[in-house]
This record gives sequence, structure tokens and C-alpha cells, in this order.
Amino acid sequence: CLLPDGWEEPPSQSKRDTMNLLLAATLTLPVAGMVGPYAASFMPPSSGGSGGPQAAKDRLGNDVRASAWLEEHGPGDRSLVQGLQGDATYLVVTESREIERFAINSICTHLGCVVPWNAAENKFICPCHGSQYDAQGKKVRGPAPLSLALAHTSVSDSDVVQLSPWTETDFRDGEAPWWA
Ligand code: FES
Repeated sequence: CLLPDGWEEPPSQSKRDTMNLLLAATLTLPVAGMVGPYAASFMPPSSGGSGGPQAAKDRLGNDVRASAWLEEHGPGDRSLVQGLQGDATYLVVTESREIERFAINSICTHLGCVVPWNAAENKFICPCHGSQYDAQGKKVRGPAPLSLALAHTSVSDSDVVQLSPWTETDFRDGEAPWWA
């Protein structure tokens, strides 16, 4: 939690009262902000409204089938599908040959280039201005200001890979998701 500038200095009593109010406001806002996304995760899937799971699409616009994808893509693979809002998004294949529970949006957070996966370097490296992201899409080098966005993945009963918005804490840095 970031404290206001000058917080370390022992303040006068009146200043302290003001700062207590400020601190209370600071603490209240994030808690209120967390209720929405947390509650949203309990909404029934596939309700048809925005925010529900959507089928990942291949380059031809067909639904991505998990079994076929896993036949063609081995452990550690990161390959693009059409994701939420049509964003090119990486599906990740785990070492145990499953679809990883998160997918990685390929849009660079600097100026929006699609960032290729570089398997030899084990990183995503943006060709436009050199930003780098680790294998989970966490920013490791600028000028990009932020990590790549995440989406949830799931596999439907009919074997279709689905994506849904990631509104929870970003597990890579413990911060609120900047894209939600
Ligand atoms: Fe990726 Fe500038 S758009 S580094």
C-alpha cells in the first residue's frame, strides 16, 4: 500500500487527523473495487451477456478445439488465437500437455504492436521498440509500461477452448489488473 508523500514524518495532531482521513479513503477504495470482480467470478458462465466465456477462434474463424490444438502444439507452445474483442491472444500449452488456465494478450502495452513469442529466448520480444515480457507475459523490459493482459481459459463440454475476462489480481505481480 502506497502512503502519501511525507507520511514517514511525525505529523502534528491536526495534520495527523487529516492524514488519517486520507488513509481511510485510500484503504476503502481498493476494497470497494475488489467486490465487483470477485462477485463477477461467481456469475454463471455462458449467460450470453458480455463478460461470459467466448470461443477462441483460429485464423479461419473456426472454434479452437482443445484436443486438436494439443495434437498440433506441444508443451511450452505459445500460439495465437483470436481472443476477446478479437485481440490476438496466446494460448499456452503446459508441460503436462494441457491448455494453460490463462491466456496472454499479444498487444504490446507500449504502442500496440503484436508481440511475437521467441521460444529461443523464452520471452515475448516486441519488434517495434524492444519491450520484453517473460513467458507469462510479465513486463521485464520497457519502454512498455505494463505487462501483457491476461484472460481466463476453459474447455467446454464440447471440447471448445473458451476465453473469459480476467478481473482478479494479476498473479504475476499481485496488482489489480490494469486492463479490467
Ligand atoms: Fe512494443 Fe513499442 S509497441 S515496444
